[in-house]
Amino acid sequence: MTALDPKFKKLIRQDVQSMHAYAIQDSAGMVKLDAMENPNRLPVALQAHLGQRLGALALNRYPDGRVNDLRKALADYAQMPEGFDIMLGNGSDELISLIAMACDVEGGAILAPLPGFVMYGMSAQLQGLKFIGVPLTADFELDETAMLAAIAKHQPSVIYLAYPNNPTANLWDDAVIEKIIEAAPGLVILDEAYQPFSSKSYIDRITRHGHVLLMRTMSKFGLAGVRIGYMMGPKALIAEIDKVRPPYNISVLNYECACLRWSTRTCLPRRPKSWLRSAPCFWKHWVR
Ligand SMILES: Cc1ncc(COP(=O)(O)O)c(C=O)c1O
Repeated sequence: MTALDPKFKKLIRQDVQSMHAYAIQDSAGMVKLDAMENPNRLPVALQAHLGQRLGALALNRYPDGRVNDLRKALADYAQMPEGFDIMLGNGSDELISLIAMACDVEGGAILAPLPGFVMYGMSAQLQGLKFIGVPLTADFELDETAMLAAIAKHQPSVIYLAYPNNPTANLWDDAVIEKIIEAAPGLVILDEAYQPFSSKSYIDRITRHGHVLLMRTMSKFGLAGVRIGYMMGPKALIAEIDKVRPPYNISVLNYECACLRWSTRTCLPRRPKSWLRSAPCFWKHWVR
């Protein structure tokens, strides 16, 4: 890396200059289980079909209302209850950044168990918010006492609970999740990025608690390259966070890929756990 010209040093935030960029390891020829990428590309027939669909798009135009078809399809799939709303991000990474931006109030803080998904802490740091990481117990469970004490002490504006957790892959105790939600003074984001690998969803919590948002991604369904994350919650809350979303954050190419994939979803096994046992079987379903 070349050194930054000293004349720019005073223009760029000192903490940003001291940071390391998000490292993406070269994965050529590997199965990326750490990112839970599907190792297989689309079957040839679907590649051709997708190519035709993408080629016919109006790339001369900004993204249009078709993005709402995808919002509706995802809301239906997740069984979002009536009266709630859904917003899309360029991956849930973007949603995590938008949450930090929208919740950047004086004294604001973000809290999450550690080890956890790296973007929770990074979004806080980039936004100049305090990040509180609460270590898991030795057997990777939520440390109920430590979590509740940290919530009481730091009064975080945002708490993240990834379910299942990344990188430990376990499911938290339901009763502990409930206590954390009840103790939270601010928002609780239930991050179900790995929901396709789990036996249950917490979608019902958005109806039971007005401060809970549920976040998901299409990445772990084998569409990591398409970059679609989504978040559901009370309309008024989603509307506020949506205000900091860059306009047209989902490209026409992204949402067309996602729409095509979704239109074939009934052919997919409900849970892609089978990738790990028999990845080729999973992809057979795409071409039907
Ligand atoms: C828990 C969790 N949340 C969110 C994400 C971000 O997903 P994406 O930006 O691909 O939608 C990841 C990615 O691995 C993750 O592990």
